[in-house]
Amino acid sequence: MNYNTHNTLLYVEDLSVVYGDKTVIKDVNFVEKDVVREGNVTGQVIAFVGRSGRGKSTLFRAMTGLIKPTTGKVLIADTTTASENDAKEVNEGDIGFVDQKYTLFRNKTVYEALLFALRKKEMTKEEKHTTIMSYLTDWGLAQAKDQYPCELSGGQRQRTAVIEQILCSGHYMVLDEPFSGLDVGNIEDVKKAFNLITSSHEFNTIIYSTHDIELAVELADSIYVIGYPTIEGKKADYGTIVKHIDMKELNLAWKDFGLDHIEVVKQIKATMLNS
Ligand SMILES: Nc1ncnc2c1ncn2[C@@H]1O[C@H](COP(=O)(O)OP(=O)(O)OP(=O)(O)O)[C@@H](O)[C@H]1O
Ligand SMILES: [Mg+2]
Repeated sequence: MNYNTHNTLLYVEDLSVVYGDKTVIKDVNFVEKDVVREGNVTGQVIAFVGRSGRGKSTLFRAMTGLIKPTTGKVLIADTTTASENDAKEVNEGDIGFVDQKYTLFRNKTVYEALLFALRKKEMTKEEKHTTIMSYLTDWGLAQAKDQYPCELSGGQRQRTAVIEQILCSGHYMVLDEPFSGLDVGNIEDVKKAFNLITSSHEFNTIIYSTHDIELAVELADSIYVIGYPTIEGKKADYGTIVKHIDMKELNLAWKDFGLDHIEVVKQIKATMLNS
């Protein structure tokens, strides 16, 4: 499938995070560009996989400006300026972030939380209500509309958090394990949401982590494996990118999951086992 790449949307250089004397991630470098396909609005879907504790969530927190990295920088396209090539350092709030623990406001019902997510949007009260109700219905949350987080199931909380980010995010959205704890129907809802987001603007970029390698290979057009690198024959104990798979280059992006995808899944699993 033909495609070109244009503006840089995400630029991560020499990123490291150290907690106390423990280096959690180090030497993280990658670039993601706007993918352009003729006759198609193509946002970016980027997956991060890797074994537990290798630093995916830490990387996400640093990438979204939630924690300050020990070294390195994260640049995103500055889509507020006229020139399309301007880049700016990421600040907390620039990139929507759905935490792995998907914390919701304790004192807000599902409806109130979503209304709060829309607070900066120029929409009338009625438009906001209609938007929220249509999401709640599509995502099977209409019944839970007036419930508080403590009265929701894990999957309901998760879906509320994802909708919240869809409503308030700009072009970037980072989701830490958006598929964990969801049933088959909910997984389809999140997949549909990915599609909706990426087909609504060229610059829209979804970055997610998952332990479901098949879901990474099925949905992403770029996949990074975070693991412990082997340096001079010895396994280090900090996380970094140990493999990058460009599904576009492999001619496997934007296609139904097939035998070639299964091969990629096998490769990734092998890499993970050694890192
Ligand atoms: N605030 C913190 N202070 C100290 N160490 C931390 C902190 N946050 C994370 N760590 C450590 O950093 C390492 C990476 O954790 P992280 O949550 O980023 O991994 P992960 O790849 O997201 O794992 P999982 O797949 O289980 O979610 C772990 O060893 C963890 O104990
Ligand atoms: Mg994590």
